[in-house]
Amino acid sequence: MVTQIQQKNTQLIHSGRNNRVTQGSVNPVIQRASSLVFNSVAEKKIATKKRAQQALFYGRRGTLTHFALQDVMCELEGGVGCYLYPCGAAAISNSLLAFVQQGDHILVTGAAYEPTQEFCQIILKKMGIETTFFDPMLSAEEVAALVQENTKVVFLEAPSSLTMEVGDIPGIVQAVRAKNPELVIMLDNTWSGGLLFPALQYGIDISIQAGTKYLVGHSDAMIGTAVANERTWDQLREQSYLMGQMVDADTAYMTARGIRTLALRLKQHGESSLKIAKWLAEQPEVKAVYHPALPSCPGHQFFQRDFKGASGLFSFELQQRLNDEQVANFLDHFQLFSMAYSWGGYESLILVNQPEEIARIRPNIQRKLTGSLVRIHVGLEDPDDLIHDLAAGLARIHQ
Ligand SMILES: Cc1ncc(COP(=O)(O)O)c(C=O)c1O
Repeated sequence: MVTQIQQKNTQLIHSGRNNRVTQGSVNPVIQRASSLVFNSVAEKKIATKKRAQQALFYGRRGTLTHFALQDVMCELEGGVGCYLYPCGAAAISNSLLAFVQQGDHILVTGAAYEPTQEFCQIILKKMGIETTFFDPMLSAEEVAALVQENTKVVFLEAPSSLTMEVGDIPGIVQAVRAKNPELVIMLDNTWSGGLLFPALQYGIDISIQAGTKYLVGHSDAMIGTAVANERTWDQLREQSYLMGQMVDADTAYMTARGIRTLALRLKQHGESSLKIAKWLAEQPEVKAVYHPALPSCPGHQFFQRDFKGASGLFSFELQQRLNDEQVANFLDHFQLFSMAYSWGGYESLILVNQPEEIARIRPNIQRKLTGSLVRIHVGLEDPDDLIHDLAAGLARIHQ
């Protein structure tokens, strides 16, 4: 009897490990190549014909290592194909570019990762493509009302970067599709690692990740992924190829290796982050905790309905706006939390954003903050140790 794999965590241990790519070892081989040599004219002909179907053709189309990772990603996110990019920002920009042309309009959440917004404001604008940014807490009907004749793409992200709002993603997908079935809907799904939010099942066409975060999981490589459904895959693949997008075989290998422990890591990130979020909510220095699994996070009801769990990244607002000296005193002395712009690795990280900075980069969202916003990534340390570190940090605010 053939064993039926029912659970995603089991699947992720075994996916992409066929004989062709492992050649007898446990993991796929690292095949570094620009030139891929054909033994005959007939072989070259077949490779050319099947170059988009994982034939060994030329380095930029991928090697066995890339094919293994693409297979893992398709199993993880339920797509028909996965394009690989040198970083998350490249995955976002190239996915957008593949589906727009001069005169088009796109709808983008106004709380998207900052460089996503800037790409639209600077690069797409230069190409004559107009962007409407919308508040992530608009209802599905309100978002659908923003769809114009020339709208081609809807770009979503949930939870939002920094401010953590969770919009009604399945509702928005349905409502905008009802308005125009041709729309291409994309989601920056980095926060969920592709595991906690089954984007394609909810009707998203392309699920994008900064694989730099949870997929790699060890803060030592950069990669972007875009998993596409049947109707978008050919266009995404061919246009990304023309844009020269590719990642090196070593990074592809490290990403596939990272994914073997993705489910386990996310489970721990989620449990620890929730424990810490609940503790923070009881501290007098904290005004509100924006962790999607807590009711104090805008859109918590959608998180409860649509997500399978939480990861490690969330924010909390302090009662007060810290001055520069207080920010330095707070941030400079953590034992376990480091300061860095990234997240998604095994280590804990912390950053502070002032309310006016948030207002400046979120001109299209209604919600206004008054206290300093602290964003933390809860790593894989013991949560009680992290709580001690945070308690000392909050105490430093009064010094
Ligand atoms: C939500 C989100 N999307 C995309 C990116 C971009 O990823 P990369 O740094 O790999 O380009 C980031 C990076 O911080 C991110 O937080």
